[in-house]
Amino acid sequence: MNSFVSAAQIGAPPQATADEVVRLVDVRRRFGATAALDGISLTVRKGEILGIIGRSGAGKSTLIRCLNGLERPDSGEIEIEGRSIVGLAEEDLQPLRRRVGMIFQHFNLLAAKTVEDNVALPLKIAGVARAERLKRAHELLDLVGLADKARAYPASLSGGQKQRVGIARALAARPALLLSDEATSALDPETTRSILALLKDINRKLGLTILLITHEMEVVRTIADRVAVIDAGRIVEEGQVWSVFADPKTLISRSLLSGNRPQLPEHIAARLSPTSGSEAILSIDLAGPEAQGALFADLSAALPYSFRLVHGGIDHIQNQPVAKFFIAVPTRDPALKDKVQQFLKARSARVEVLGYDTDHV
Ligand SMILES: Nc1ncnc2c1ncn2[C@@H]1O[C@H](COP(=O)(O)OP(=O)(O)OP(=O)(O)O)[C@@H](O)[C@H]1O
Ligand SMILES: [Mg+2]
Repeated sequence: MNSFVSAAQIGAPPQATADEVVRLVDVRRRFGATAALDGISLTVRKGEILGIIGRSGAGKSTLIRCLNGLERPDSGEIEIEGRSIVGLAEEDLQPLRRRVGMIFQHFNLLAAKTVEDNVALPLKIAGVARAERLKRAHELLDLVGLADKARAYPASLSGGQKQRVGIARALAARPALLLSDEATSALDPETTRSILALLKDINRKLGLTILLITHEMEVVRTIADRVAVIDAGRIVEEGQVWSVFADPKTLISRSLLSGNRPQLPEHIAARLSPTSGSEAILSIDLAGPEAQGALFADLSAALPYSFRLVHGGIDHIQNQPVAKFFIAVPTRDPALKDKVQQFLKARSARVEVLGYDTDHV
């Protein structure tokens, strides 16, 4: 079986099933000449963490705003827990909005209210009595590790603590879905990791479904089960995180991934010739069981000349080995490069000749 399994066929309308929390079919939204959303179809299953990644202006925030009812699509269907939210009057949207919690890049806490009152705010709006909503707020502050900050004001908290309050507030009304729009973009790497670990923990403990939007592949890699790549209002690629990392199909995915995958060192890339040299430089991508086998030992055993390992390594994403290597194959036997490619392709690897190195004899 080919290791690179795409989880969804791009463009095929998703089929409704009972465990879907979100279902979008051909959602479109224009702003003047800009198609911010140009036919988005996707589903998020209960308990799943879906990462949506794209460059600035790709349509990510517009998508999130359509999901929480702040923006209305021009056409298409949006269902939350099987109920359509398209075309609902404002007052009918309110109960559905409570099923959707949201966290923001800049936390959006009320500076004049204590932490516990910030967390309890959605319950106040929903008409829950003060004692009951404070009890719930304290439970949630416990969950996010801020039990001792209930009476503090947001100004006295660090960015990471503020986002924990934001997460507690988003969970107050026991939503079915948590939306996150760049919730870690304003945080340093260590705080980002702790917030992502908290979200994963909540996802596991509460079975909460999470849709998170980011421009950072590292965020997707750390917590998402599935990733959808959005560009110019369209989903251009979608699949299990490890499979998209292993075999990105589109240029946009490759460029978003470039900082997260091994690259041929620049000084070697700079001296490659497109036509000739004493060694051919090959890039090899492979994932799944083949990636952790004795690939290079087998390759050495199968072929007469030794090759040189230039750069690369094996990563583990969602417990799947995902490997990328650059090797140099001598060109003195012209058939060798083709034999190496055949051998690797038979192991489901993607192989590309990047050029020829002139420095090694
Ligand atoms: N209210 C609006 N009026 C006019 N144009 C808009 C509006 N909202 C979004 N757009 C345009 O729609 C496109 C998508 O915007 P959106 O905010 O969804 O992008 P994004 O992916 O969230 O970008 P970023 O990563 O920078 O937050 C952009 O071209 C943007 O300029
Ligand atoms: Mg945005």
